[in-house]
Amino acid sequence: MSKVECKLIEFGSEEYKHSIELRRKVLRKPLGLDFTPNDLNAEHDQFHFAIFDNGILIGILLLKTMKDISPSILKMRQVAIDPEYQSKGFGSILVRFSEQWAIESGFNLIELNARNTAVQFYKNLDYKEIGNEFLEVNIPHIKMIKNF
Ligand SMILES: CC(C)(COP(=O)(O)OP(=O)(O)OC[C@H]1O[C@@H](n2cnc3c(N)ncnc32)[C@H](O)[C@@H]1OP(=O)(O)O)[C@@H](O)C(=O)NCCC(=O)NCCS
Repeated sequence: MSKVECKLIEFGSEEYKHSIELRRKVLRKPLGLDFTPNDLNAEHDQFHFAIFDNGILIGILLLKTMKDISPSILKMRQVAIDPEYQSKGFGSILVRFSEQWAIESGFNLIELNARNTAVQFYKNLDYKEIGNEFLEVNIPHIKMIKNF
């Protein structure tokens, strides 16, 4: 039987290295882009949440504090599920796991910039669209938020 587990992974760990490969494959290569060392170093103090299926890392997301704006706001970013495992509920499980951690840690709002193709995914998880569409990494995005 398949064993699914979500957990925080440590920046620089072996699991982290696998998560970078996954993010590169899912989020960057299809756009002809890659991460720079500076992009990755800037994430040392962000929270890296991974989902595993029988010990294999199959998804990742990051939560970033927004201390300049408010101590109670997090930004969710870099949400990626391995293509072989998409549309099977793993992304929803991982988002809900990270939200539970955010609530227990005293945060009360998560914001994110959703790609058009992922808007329905976040709507299903009760995120609301705010503002107008804008371009990020050359593709249309919209800001979405969820209050706790
Ligand atoms: C978006 C993503 C994280 C969702 O994770 P997932 O595990 O595939 O999603 P779940 O199985 O939990 O939820 C599926 C629901 O989300 C929506 N959804 C997910 N991917 C979608 C897509 N590409 N297009 C439209 N709807 C999508 C659908 O409503 C779907 O429900 P359904 O299966 O009943 O139709 C994942 O598909 C992914 O990594 N996509 C590529 C990278 C990406 O777009 N990341 C988000 C950047 S903002």
